[in-house]
Amino acid sequence: MTEYRELTKDNICDLIAAAIEARRNSYSPYSHYQVGAALLTADGRVVTGCNIENAAYGPSNCAERTAFFKAVSEGIRAFAAIAIVGSPEGEELTQYAHPCGVCRQVMREFCEPENFRVIVAKSEEDYRVMTLAELLPESFGPENVRDGNEQCQR
Ligand code: THU
Repeated sequence: MTEYRELTKDNICDLIAAAIEARRNSYSPYSHYQVGAALLTADGRVVTGCNIENAAYGPSNCAERTAFFKAVSEGIRAFAAIAIVGSPEGEELTQYAHPCGVCRQVMREFCEPENFRVIVAKSEEDYRVMTLAELLPESFGPENVRDGNEQCQR
């Protein structure tokens, strides 16, 4: 079982600042909607991501999944929280950008729903914190397809 750290206000502010910085790299020439994410690992590292769109639309990737896939591809599989900032290009952060359904399911693969925190922010002072369980209730996860004694390798 992963030991999750308590999230402090400083952790939250740092994560939001990192997400705002990551949003600067958003590649979103089609939607003009820019998203940044900062993922806090269970051992205190921060992995960032932005949305990356594509002329064929379908291959586009959300900021949250960019961060998760970067982390997992580097061998990190235990996470404490993610901060997300998103708003149309050229605007201040005018809205709370909640993660899409696909990203929630990707989080579910690697995170404990009751412990993993999702922070949606308009600024370092203006944010909401939710658990993944609140965003994805009654979810389907790795335990459902685990058979017999086999353990998912986290
Ligand atoms: N987007 C994200 O990066 N994260 C979300 O959770 C919602 C949507 C991106 C995808 C696309 O590049 C743009 O925002 C508009 O949907």
